[in-house]
Amino acid sequence: MVTSGLEGLIPGGTFYLRTFGCQMNEHDSERIHGLLSAEGWHRVERPEDADVLIYNTCSVREKADSRLLGNLGVARRLKAAGRTRAVVVAGCLAQSRRDTFLAEQPVVDVLVGPQSLDELGRRLREFLLTGRPGTACAGGTGGWSATLPRIRRPGPTAWVQIMTGCTNFCAYCIVPYVRGAESSRPAEDIVAEVRSLVADGVREVTLLGQNVNAYGKEAGFGGREEFPDLLGALDDVAGLCRVRFMTSHPKDMSPRLIEALGRYASVCEHVHLPVQSGNNRVLAAMGRGYTREDYLHLVGELRRSVPSLTLTTDLIVAFPGETEAEFRETLSLVEACDFDAAFTFIYSPRPGTRAAVLPDRVDRQTAERRVNELIALVQGQAAEKNRRLVGATLEVLVEGRNANGQGWGRTRGFKLVNFSGTAAAGERAMVEIGGATSAGLTGRRVPHGR
Ligand code: SAH
Ligand code: SF4
Ligand code: F3S
Repeated sequence: MVTSGLEGLIPGGTFYLRTFGCQMNEHDSERIHGLLSAEGWHRVERPEDADVLIYNTCSVREKADSRLLGNLGVARRLKAAGRTRAVVVAGCLAQSRRDTFLAEQPVVDVLVGPQSLDELGRRLREFLLTGRPGTACAGGTGGWSATLPRIRRPGPTAWVQIMTGCTNFCAYCIVPYVRGAESSRPAEDIVAEVRSLVADGVREVTLLGQNVNAYGKEAGFGGREEFPDLLGALDDVAGLCRVRFMTSHPKDMSPRLIEALGRYASVCEHVHLPVQSGNNRVLAAMGRGYTREDYLHLVGELRRSVPSLTLTTDLIVAFPGETEAEFRETLSLVEACDFDAAFTFIYSPRPGTRAAVLPDRVDRQTAERRVNELIALVQGQAAEKNRRLVGATLEVLVEGRNANGQGWGRTRGFKLVNFSGTAAAGERAMVEIGGATSAGLTGRRVPHGR
C-alpha cells in the first residue's frame, strides 16, 4: 500500500475533490480518492466541510482553465475564513503551468501532475507540516495511476486504464505535453483488474487511453499483445457482458481491429472516432495522419464489419486559416458519415503547441457561427438516427433510477434510455423503444425473449 510516511505527524482529515475534463481524469480522481482514503482521509461533498480542497483539472481548451479559476475564488474565501487548510491542484493544468502557477495563484499550495498522482498524499502532508508549497510534476512516461488503490463510483460499469500518454502531437493539442509519451499497461494486469471488477458486480468496462488503437505498439513495450488481442483476452472473461473503449484514432484503426470489433460478442457496437475536420488541408495542418477519403473509407469498413454500429466523433471548427469552403467540407463529411452524436469545439489556442503560433486566426464571430451551424446539423442527424430506433427492442444495462422513478441505462450502442417498469442496477433489461430525441431514447421494459 502507498503511504506518505507522515501519517504519524499529520493525521488525516476531510477532503473535497472536484474533477474537470475527460474520462481519464474522472478515472484519475477515483485513484486520488482511493489513495487518500488509504492514507486516512475522508471525502466530503461540500467544499465548506473540507480541510483540503482538491481540483483535478483539465487544460485542453481555454474554457477548461477558466472553470478552475472560478473555483479558486471559492477556495480563497474559505481559506480566508480559516476553514480550508490546503488547496491542491492536480491534473493536466497543474502539469502545463507547473513553472508559474504557484506564483500566479498564491491560494494554491500543492501542484501534482497527472503522471505524479502517487505523490499527492505525501506532498499534501509535507505542506501541512512545513507550510511550504510543493510541486510534483514529473515528465516522460510512467506514473501509472492504474497501480494506485481506487474507489470507484458504485454501479455495473467501470473504467479501466490500458495506456497512459499520447505521442501523436496533433498541432492543436496539449495532451502529449501534459500526459507524456504513450505507454501501454501489460495485458495480464488489465485482465486481472477486469476480473476483480466483475467479481465486484461490474458487467461493462470502458477501456481508457488517449489512443487505444495504438495499444502495445510503442517501442519497448514488453507485452506481445496489440489492441485486438486485448479485446480477445477480455472476451474470455466470464461474467463480463460489455467492453467499450475510448478514444480511437483513425490512423491506427487497422483491418485486424475492424475485424475484431465484429467478432467478439462482448465488444459493444460503438466506436468514438474523432475526425476533427472534413478538409484535407486542415487535416494535414493538424497533423492527423489521414485524409477525408481515408476516413470515409474507414467508416464504410467499420459499418461492413459491424452493421448496427453507433458512430460518434469530435469536430473542431475555426482551426487557424480555415476558410468557409474548408468548413463546408466538414459539414459535408458529417452528412456523409451519419454520426449518432458529435462533440463540437471551437479551436482554442494552447500555449506551446504548434498551432498556437499559426497565422490567420479565425475571428470569434465567424467561429461561433460555424460551430452553431455544425451543432444544428449534428443534432438533426442524431435525432433522426434515434428516431429510426423507435419500435425496436434493445438490451439496456440498467444503471439506476432517474428523478421520476424510471429505470435508466445504456444500450450496447451507447444510447441513453429511460424506461418504465421495474429493474435493478446491473440487470440487463429488454426495452421496447417508444420515443426519441437527439439526446436519447425512452421506452418500456418488456419480458425477455420477445
Ligand atoms: N485523445 C483523444 C481526445 C483528445 S481531447 C483523441 O485524440 O481523440 C478531446 C477532443 O478535444 C479532441 O478530439 C479535439 O476534438 C478537442 N480538442 C483538443 N484540443 C483542442 C483545442 N486546442 N481546441 C479545440 N478543441 C480541442
Ligand atoms: Fe491530442 Fe491528438 Fe493525442 Fe488526441 S491523438 S490526445 S487529439 S495529440
Ligand atoms: Fe483535459 Fe487532460 Fe483529459 S487536458 S481532456 S483532462 S487528458
